[in-house]
Amino acid sequence: MKESSTRIVAVSNRLPIRLVQGPEGWEIKPGAGGLVTALAPVFKNRGGTWIGWSGGTNDADLAGLMGPASREAGYTLHPVPLSAKEVADYYYGFSNEIIWPLFHDLQTRCNFNPDYWYQYLNVNRKFAEVIARFSRDSNYVWVHDYHLMHIGQALKDLGVERNIGFFLHIPFPPADIFMKLPWRAQILRALLEYKLVGFQTLRDRRNFIQCLRHITSDIKILGRGPVVTVTIGDKEVRVGAFPISIDYAAFVRDAESKEVADLAWYLHEALPDRQIILGIDRLDYTKGIPERLEAFRDTLNRFPELQEKITLVQVVVPSREEVPEYQALKAEIERRVGEINGQFTRSGWVPVHYLYRSLERTELLAYYRLAEIALITPLKDGMNLVAKEYCACNLEQNGVLILSEFAGAAAQLYKGAIMVNPYDVEGVSSAIHQAFYMDKKERRARMRKLREIVRHRDIFWWINIFLKAALVRDLHAFPAIEDYILEFPLESQK
Ligand code: UDP
Ligand code: G6P
Repeated sequence: MKESSTRIVAVSNRLPIRLVQGPEGWEIKPGAGGLVTALAPVFKNRGGTWIGWSGGTNDADLAGLMGPASREAGYTLHPVPLSAKEVADYYYGFSNEIIWPLFHDLQTRCNFNPDYWYQYLNVNRKFAEVIARFSRDSNYVWVHDYHLMHIGQALKDLGVERNIGFFLHIPFPPADIFMKLPWRAQILRALLEYKLVGFQTLRDRRNFIQCLRHITSDIKILGRGPVVTVTIGDKEVRVGAFPISIDYAAFVRDAESKEVADLAWYLHEALPDRQIILGIDRLDYTKGIPERLEAFRDTLNRFPELQEKITLVQVVVPSREEVPEYQALKAEIERRVGEINGQFTRSGWVPVHYLYRSLERTELLAYYRLAEIALITPLKDGMNLVAKEYCACNLEQNGVLILSEFAGAAAQLYKGAIMVNPYDVEGVSSAIHQAFYMDKKERRARMRKLREIVRHRDIFWWINIFLKAALVRDLHAFPAIEDYILEFPLESQK
């Protein structure tokens, strides 16, 4: 098989579109989150098939919309219909109340309900049935993310042979956390049914291999570099680290447009004579939004000379609103924003501008362009594409990126960003202080470096290296590790 011409069948929990009921019937909107932003341009470019859930539970009514949606997208969409019970137990339950918190090192938030597990198996089997129907054995079946770790196993159980790979968009936790999962051995064995398993960083890959060692001693690692071969008995699986990225050229092109430039100017004019600090996140407890607000409050307290000179624009994109933890988080964020604004607002200056909605692309890019500082402080994140998008859109090269050590993006961006521990309120607030006073020359030098990395390692590069790892016979031809993955040296920062 050749990487460039192989037809890909992508499989993810969500299709890249959302069908939203509007005043004149169903409307097609883009999906939210990093997985969709990253993959949609690739598929627009190469065509192919995408299998996933539509986001609703009444797909019979929506079947007719998939044709027009496919034509608009440029690739074929096949929905996997799910019932309300399946959505509740597989998506909200197993995926978002167990795997999501556990894999982000937050095991105390997990609800290890056994019913969720059975529904996870059931829905993964349903996906496998749709794959069996809409793929051929000449296709490459590429499964994405934590909702679907069991598909390789499910296809095997159905007796369907495919060339199949998996990419995990979220982190893989260290063994002492992963081993708390009641179904740990089943999940690890299911992952070994893929021919290639990809992670965002070397740390994730190392964690995965350590977990494998806990369930078997009969394990060998062959090769070195970003992709290695793991053998367990007669099973052979390639395991690699592939940091996902963005369509850099498209972000630059769109950020350069007059529409974005005008809007950026207009929005900044409304907040004159101050530096704008930008936070953009889905509503999620992994993003460290309350901790970030505390750090901002600390900045205003410890460095009062910055009052009226900085404004935090915090965009929160609605997500998983049916999960009680997410509702509580929203209330928590709004309480803190209210407290900070109540304490510090002066005539003509509101310290925190809080937007709770999803942004249109022009508005998103305008915020990226106008912000002097991006404050990206997840407690843990698979990659964090917002960090890369901010750099791509910083055309004037005068922005400062403050980045969490625990974002996957740290491995590539740590040399140009100001790195912070998101739990360290005073550390983050000192970073804001440092960014505010950073001179033009240093800003430019750092941002240049950052943009160069993102430009060089964009989403098309990512898809090529993943497919190469999946389809080349001999891994010797693969790039050396230092050629594309750096590792953020946590310890040496002390
Ligand atoms: N994003 C979005 N809607 C918005 C604002 C941002 O879809 O209103 C996009 C943003 O451009 C980025 C993605 O959401 O591509 C967030 O990806 P990231 O990797 O930062 O985090 P995730 O949401 O996947 O955890
Ligand atoms: C993260 C996950 C994606 C997910 C997205 C949005 O990026 O890695 O798989 O689609 O968040 O979350 P949602 O639950 O709305 O699909």
